Amino acid sequence: MEPDRAERAALPDPALVVLIGPSGSGKSTWAADRYRSPEIVSSDGLRAIVGSGEHDLDASADAFAVLDQIVAARAGRGLTTVIDTLGLDPQRRAGYLEIARWARLPAVAVIFDTDQATCRNRNRSRDQPVPAQVLTAQLHRMRGMAAEAGAEGWDQVLRVENRAARGPSAADRAGPQSDRATPADKGPAGSSQPEFILQLSRFDWGDDPAAWLKAVAQAAAEAGFRGLALMDHLIQIPQVGRAWEPIPEPLVTLGMLAGLETGLRLGTLVTPVTFRAPGVLAKSVATLDVLSGGRAFCGIGAGWWDREHAAFGLRFPSARERLDHLEAAIETVRALWQPGTKAYRGDRVQLPETTCYPRPVSAIPILVGGSGERRTLQIAARLGDGCNLPSDLEVLDRKLPVLRDHCRAAGRDLANMQVTVLDVPVIGRSREHVAALVERLRGRSGAAAFARRHHAGLAADHLARYRQLAERGVSTIFVALPDLTGPDDLARLAPVIAALA
Ligand code: UTP
Ligand code: MG
Repeated sequence: MEPDRAERAALPDPALVVLIGPSGSGKSTWAADRYRSPEIVSSDGLRAIVGSGEHDLDASADAFAVLDQIVAARAGRGLTTVIDTLGLDPQRRAGYLEIARWARLPAVAVIFDTDQATCRNRNRSRDQPVPAQVLTAQLHRMRGMAAEAGAEGWDQVLRVENRAARGPSAADRAGPQSDRATPADKGPAGSSQPEFILQLSRFDWGDDPAAWLKAVAQAAAEAGFRGLALMDHLIQIPQVGRAWEPIPEPLVTLGMLAGLETGLRLGTLVTPVTFRAPGVLAKSVATLDVLSGGRAFCGIGAGWWDREHAAFGLRFPSARERLDHLEAAIETVRALWQPGTKAYRGDRVQLPETTCYPRPVSAIPILVGGSGERRTLQIAARLGDGCNLPSDLEVLDRKLPVLRDHCRAAGRDLANMQVTVLDVPVIGRSREHVAALVERLRGRSGAAAFARRHHAGLAADHLARYRQLAERGVSTIFVALPDLTGPDDLARLAPVIAALA
């Protein structure tokens, strides 16, 4: 049984999942089609480990003692755990529920509504069938199970219908079919779909940086990205890599990329106002716009990392002062991008003339990065063309109303503003691959926390999430891959981008 899309969307992950069904109802098969083997804790499997085999009933007590220990250890780490036992004992179920609550994991009961004849037939054809009367007793216990489980307080009760004829198993399938986006995935016709911009933050460029950058830009364009954004930091930030790893000056680098025929829009995400005098930034970005034929955008923020400022001899004033700078910088940049050379007198900025040639050839969008609710979002609402927010849906749902209020106060409609997000997804080819990526990349973070932060999943999972972002009016999704090493990594995103095109 390949997990269908609706079912996958319906199942929380991570979660504590308890299977309930008689022998032969398809529990182990269902679990194996959906979860990695270490995620499944099976009483049969443990009987074979602590006893002489899966059906060594004398080993049951030991097997369940080990099972309980494994369940508690995994759940305590926030890891998905599927309990593959008959699940018919309400007391044991209550114990699992308690563990889920303690671990703050969603608790899911999965009831196998396989008809009796199918269970009996399957049982008979097994090497070691359970005695017929034992199976009969199990089938009796299943009566009214949906109501019984429904009253127990599970976060979700899923019913799996019997499908006597089983398709090929997950292992038999050639390639990651389930993770491939198909035309059926396309959203409603005419709904506005977000565009994707690759954000580059790591530069594993070996001994030919320029060739690497060009290849990455070309692969991004081929994968369907509409633009390329560079992080602007003086030292590689700890969230991404080690301090001695390369992090090129973005405007110089974008200048080189402007010379390629990729059609990609080019900009920073985001430039701290503390790095360059705002007028000089205006000059650089205007030049980028001219040299790229109108493809520049400008992400700008207040800056946050004291260390890089100290190391480069830059002032790192208080947050309040930096936010003042942010306002003044946007004003200055806009003044210098206006046509003409007349003097500028603004709220925070006065310039005796605004002679800045070449002037931009496009209306360069200014995206304000950061999510400080009181001031940053207010500055974005008043002065930005767009606002870049975290991609986490819960966070976004808190920030968007705040941004909307700031827009209203500024006499502006949020609908006329670009809402962009930065997403750093872990995208795997299979559940196994996802887990391996998380394990390789997580550093000192716990696996569950890292997976949550990076929405670790298959392409189809990310597609579903991006749809939800689109529903909230997100116009641009900046995507940074935490495991990007080179151009080949971008192909994983092509089907997702195509499905939303
Ligand atoms: P399972 O071995 O998955 O059942 O399937 P179970 O519920 O875990 O059984 P117990 O409790 O461990 O005894 C039983 C048989 O049914 C087939 C499987 O291939 C297996 O041989 N099966 C299962 C199907 O043919 N179709 C299905 O959809 C599920
Ligand atoms: Mg089984």
